[in-house]
Amino acid sequence: MNIVTCVAPVNIAVIKYWGKRDEKLILPINDSISASLDTKQLCAKTTVMASCNFKTDRIWLNGREESMDNPRLQNCLQQIKKRAQLSLEMKNWHIHICSVNNFPTAAGLASSAAGYACLASALAKLYNIKGDISDIARSGSGSACRSVYGGFVRWYMGSDPQGTDSIAKEIVPSNYWPEMRILILVVNDSKKKVSSAIGMKNSVETSELLKYRANKCVPERVELMQQAIIDRNFDKFAELTIKDSNQMHAVCLDTYPPCSYLTDVTHSIIDIVHAYNDAVNCLKVAYTNDAGPNTVLYLLEKDVPSVLGIIDYYFPQNDNSNYIRGNAPEIIKPSAELIEKINRDKQLPGKLKYIIHTQIGEGPMYIDDPKEHLLDTKGHPID
Ligand code: DP6
Repeated sequence: MNIVTCVAPVNIAVIKYWGKRDEKLILPINDSISASLDTKQLCAKTTVMASCNFKTDRIWLNGREESMDNPRLQNCLQQIKKRAQLSLEMKNWHIHICSVNNFPTAAGLASSAAGYACLASALAKLYNIKGDISDIARSGSGSACRSVYGGFVRWYMGSDPQGTDSIAKEIVPSNYWPEMRILILVVNDSKKKVSSAIGMKNSVETSELLKYRANKCVPERVELMQQAIIDRNFDKFAELTIKDSNQMHAVCLDTYPPCSYLTDVTHSIIDIVHAYNDAVNCLKVAYTNDAGPNTVLYLLEKDVPSVLGIIDYYFPQNDNSNYIRGNAPEIIKPSAELIEKINRDKQLPGKLKYIIHTQIGEGPMYIDDPKEHLLDTKGHPID
């Protein structure tokens, strides 16, 4: 069969990747750690098909045909072909690729990680490539290498100049810390962002703080984080997650010209999370931000109803339909006493688009049901 369909997860880093030592090979300046999220709520789905009848390679992304002339996509295909045991006949066949996300692109969530992990996994099956393929996903987008595994995943920066040891490995599987939950707060925002690729390139070229971060802070922090995950120590996990996110954004401000990804709304969320943790006298919620204003909260299942109550109180929706998506838990309204302790009087209606409630999930999965393919027998996208 020359058609393969696969789904792959989005991942959210708790120790951030920010900076490359080799732009072409996509080799990072530090290790990073992330969790892969449940594909039920957020995933990329990709069908790849090879045929002697195709005249050229073609790709459709979220319903639109795009150019194959994209250096990162070409990198990924080259890596695949290098590793593939292609029969002489198959060597000349062209491929068609069709990929969709199960979440709106407008959500502003990084989709390239799931997309390239999905592409690499689908092509690996199509061409019968065995073993680790995180380096192939990495050649499309750095953080994509972490999405080829489920659970908590560490991307080792490696030391080989050719990048052969810059690969991802699972720390623990998806069911290891079953109480862990994730709330993605999608911020209403239309500001145009500097892409993470450009932002981190500028940081590598201009930020002294980034050197200190990569050489001193992350090497220590990444070991502590790995141990906190293995010990299921939420307190330590939360502290490290918060500190690492803030340090990445401090590096962004230390960059010249500075890139600021966080908005006033993000800062309000951060402030309320700290005020809530103080009010309840322990670290119940950790927050982290990537190259955009959306904030991702890590917390334990038992605390989800109260934390949703707090978010709903400070960020009420003008129209509350479909405000909380994904897993549907109850919401506990905060008591007057708790609100008094949090001591923030500002409520910000309409500042969040919606909230996605999810959990840790598996790595890429192949879908055998032919009805699930995104391409028809002739290799054209199915509507
Ligand atoms: C802020 O993987 O998108 O999300 O390698 O240039 O494609 P490229 O960058 P990308 O960077 C993601 C950076 C981050 C932090 C992280 O996920 O570790």
